[in-house]
Amino acid sequence: MSFRNAPLAVIHDCDKSTLFDPETRAAIDAEVAKYPPEWKQSAVMPALTLVQDANGGWLTRDLMDAVAAYLDMPVVSVYEVATFYGMYDLEPQGRHKVCVCNSVSCLLLGSEELIEHVESKYGVRPGETTPDGRFTFKEVECLGACRHAPAVLLDKTYHEDLSPEALDELIDGLE
Ligand code: FES
Repeated sequence: MSFRNAPLAVIHDCDKSTLFDPETRAAIDAEVAKYPPEWKQSAVMPALTLVQDANGGWLTRDLMDAVAAYLDMPVVSVYEVATFYGMYDLEPQGRHKVCVCNSVSCLLLGSEELIEHVESKYGVRPGETTPDGRFTFKEVECLGACRHAPAVLLDKTYHEDLSPEALDELIDGLE
């Protein structure tokens, strides 16, 4: 997705936050309330996560613009966050996300084997979704679980010390 023509100014003249459902808006408000009013932009990461979850696991440009407007911050700053961190997705995703860590501890302890296994058994490369839409396969940077490498983040749950067989069991349990 290209943001070359994205406006740099804060959006004040629209209320795209109508894109948020009431529960999402309330949850964002709860995050915003954790910070002084003049620092509400500090809630951008949880806000993006909430909006992404409510949208089936990915962020549209309109939704990112809505977060910017809601938090009174430049849209480009929201795009920067959404494109920098691996937990945000800018394209439709499968019903689940299988994220295999590819950083050094996990690479040394078997994540390459996990990645090759998923590629060969399920026919998806990193960034791709299975034809039945069951899961999107992602390679991600360090998950902060290096002590129990190799680590996999399945949706929002960490799984550690995984073998290909153990990963299969997790994937087989996905609807
Ligand atoms: S290197 Fe994989 S969790 Fe840190």
